[in-house]
Amino acid sequence: MDRDQLLRELNEFLRIPSVSTLPAHNQDCRAAAEWVAAALRRIGCRDVEFLGSQTHPVVWGKGPDVPGAPTLLIYGHYDVQPPDPLAEWTTPPFEPTQRDGRIYARGAADDKGQVFCLLQAIAASPRPGVNFRFLIEGEEEYGSKVLFDLLKREPQRVRADAVLVADMSYVAPGWPAVYTTLRGLCYAEITVRTSKTDLHSGEYGGAAPNAHEELCRLLGRLKTADGKIHIPGLYGPVKRPSKAELAAWKKLPFNEKDFLTKRVQGKGLVGLKQASVLERLWALPTFEIHGILGGFTGEGAKTVIPAEATAKVSMRLVPNQKLATVERQLVAAVKRFAPKYVTASVRFLHGADPAQIKLNSPAFKLLDQAFKDVTGRGSVPARAGGSIPVVPALASAGAPVILTGIGLPDDRLHAPNEKLELKQLWDGIEVFRRFYELLGSQESGVRSRG
Ligand code: BES
Ligand code: MN
Ligand code: MN
Repeated sequence: MDRDQLLRELNEFLRIPSVSTLPAHNQDCRAAAEWVAAALRRIGCRDVEFLGSQTHPVVWGKGPDVPGAPTLLIYGHYDVQPPDPLAEWTTPPFEPTQRDGRIYARGAADDKGQVFCLLQAIAASPRPGVNFRFLIEGEEEYGSKVLFDLLKREPQRVRADAVLVADMSYVAPGWPAVYTTLRGLCYAEITVRTSKTDLHSGEYGGAAPNAHEELCRLLGRLKTADGKIHIPGLYGPVKRPSKAELAAWKKLPFNEKDFLTKRVQGKGLVGLKQASVLERLWALPTFEIHGILGGFTGEGAKTVIPAEATAKVSMRLVPNQKLATVERQLVAAVKRFAPKYVTASVRFLHGADPAQIKLNSPAFKLLDQAFKDVTGRGSVPARAGGSIPVVPALASAGAPVILTGIGLPDDRLHAPNEKLELKQLWDGIEVFRRFYELLGSQESGVRSRG
């Protein structure tokens, strides 16, 4: 198919504002699910279903049966993060625009553009000898509840010889990657209450506690300026990467100074001094404050002592940490650090266990070969700082989960002016086409079950 036609199809997908976390976009999420279903039918799936429709459905697809061929389960997501702040987009987030060899739109890289590559790669060649299965969900950016529930009820959906997830990036232009870990996530609201109602800051100030002040102090105790998190027990299960792994990271095309000046574009980096920047990003837990609500933030001035303050926070978890344990540890730490005269509570919004993948299945060699054939360089093992909540569940039937991607590190996921480079898109289609071809060839050695 010609490239203009392909871009028209991708643009149609990108134009749908499928923001899963905002109820106002429920219809749009449904429309994106319909787009995926139609695309699956176009590439030959006869069995296409919407599963678990409490909120945004999971799109299930089953390609034609190829007896004796390996089964590949393809995972992706059609939902996107909210596009705000809108004023910072050069062109609107849901009006995909081509500029300088890139396509700008919310979801261009995360994950619609990559889902498009995975599907288009099937259409791009004579039918590969592979039994394709698809799970394309609409709640990845919101904790994947629907898919979790589905896989609990129907664990056989993840029975396959390999699972392919393309929701990450190269480590640098020209450097494709395959990921051995993903961080987990623990998202929570911490609320502090100090009195029954707000109080006049003249009448009461000096003697009555202030909820915002108490919350700030509490947050400051949970993590100190040196980057250390003081939640008792948190670092217990955290293992340092092996010497060999740390040495391998030193050879990656990653430069701490460039990371600061070109990617963060700030004046300095933070975090544990004794760990390299990659170790901080990939192998250590984090504690982030996303926003603080409450008190007076309107125009002008109001002299009030706020009675309540809430912080939205999240922690990234690394291999061997358990979400359930970290939740308990956070609650215990909040109770311990809050003074007796404040009521502190924690409400959990969503979360995910970390994932760890061994690269010892033959499927990884085939992907490596496909990258080599198409880009001239094989895939380097790396770790990912981000999370994909269902990856441990995708691995639960024993299939190797291949975590890879065709984006670039500066694609600005979740941020204004998200983009995908056209070169990455065209190469990506070719990489997956070649991967399917290798997988379907007689000698791939991937098929593990009858
Ligand atoms: N594609 C990302 C995950 C990702 C990003 C992995 C960068 C590796 C590098 C995914 O769509 C994502 O953003 N996940 C959320 C999950 C959360 C909302 C439960 C995340 O990591 O914040
Ligand atoms: Mn994603
Ligand atoms: Mn995302």
